[in-house]
Amino acid sequence: MMKSPNFPTQIISPIEDNDVEKWSIGLPKARFWDAMDITQWEGYWFGPGLLKPALTFRSSFQARDDDVILASTMKTGTTWLKSLSLCILKNHDDCKHDMLATENPHFHVPTIESALFSAKPLHFDIYDASGPRLLHTHLPYVVLPDSVKESDCKVVYLARNPKDTLISMWHFFNSFLRPDQKPFPLEKAVDCFCSGLHQYGPFSDHVAEYWLESQRRPDKILFVKYEEMKSDPKGQVSRIAEFLGRPFGEEGQVDDVLWRCSLERLKNLEVNKKGSILLNVPNTSFFRKGEVGDWKNYLTSEMEDRINQTIGLKLEVLGLIL
Ligand code: A3P
Repeated sequence: MMKSPNFPTQIISPIEDNDVEKWSIGLPKARFWDAMDITQWEGYWFGPGLLKPALTFRSSFQARDDDVILASTMKTGTTWLKSLSLCILKNHDDCKHDMLATENPHFHVPTIESALFSAKPLHFDIYDASGPRLLHTHLPYVVLPDSVKESDCKVVYLARNPKDTLISMWHFFNSFLRPDQKPFPLEKAVDCFCSGLHQYGPFSDHVAEYWLESQRRPDKILFVKYEEMKSDPKGQVSRIAEFLGRPFGEEGQVDDVLWRCSLERLKNLEVNKKGSILLNVPNTSFFRKGEVGDWKNYLTSEMEDRINQTIGLKLEVLGLIL
């Protein structure tokens, strides 16, 4: 993995746009599909506007032992994990107050580095450490603040099969195209994915770092697979609840949480059928099919082989099958 110069990690408050611009001049640049310019830092690619919040998070965030940080790379089921964790932590004893029916899950559980793209002011300050926080990040493990790594705060990482992740990403970015624009060629999207040239890529490094850390510190990082959530939702959601110190008391509770967070229900809630909680990203684009193996409807056997031989093999060597 190629390392880039480090921005100082001590608290620099506030980090100025000018400083970030000057510092990032020397970093590698590329174009992600035809959609955006990306910059490489610490071996990972970041879209426009993400470096400054990532640097601020790294240098200024003081984790509490009772914070919960959800982590995932793009299109791996983040919206689902946010919804489930919210219900586990906040709704457990108060099922009548259905937070998911009032706002999109990305409002309730902000993604730290994208908070400034929120279309609505956040309902809390992510840097206010006066109470426990439930937050999410797409940032790779290497970039997390020391206080997250060293405190007792819990991290739940969600991983997904790379082929389904890529197809989900392809649909996601295609959903923003103007009517006169053609979908980005899938073959090129596979190329970029296999070479790690996409937001928060390389995928294999992102997953591998969290995986290795979860093996080293299972009490600190829970590694969850999207496919296992689909095949054994009760088992996996109970596992998350136990890890977060909020085990379910009765059988009915886990069923209730699963129903509240089901794709069908979330997709059909008024709050998710319209509007954009993230600027220029329609809420509808977070909810598609949620099927395991949807990639079979799109990838040729050559494309499949290519992903297996690059990303799949890299993870298998670490004992991780996705
Ligand atoms: P597909 O595009 O394969 O349908 P993210 O939330 O990280 O952006 O990931 C989006 C993927 O998660 C999409 O996958 C989406 O349909 C799926 N998803 C969203 N909400 C879900 C839910 N409640 N249950 C299962 N899958 C969900």
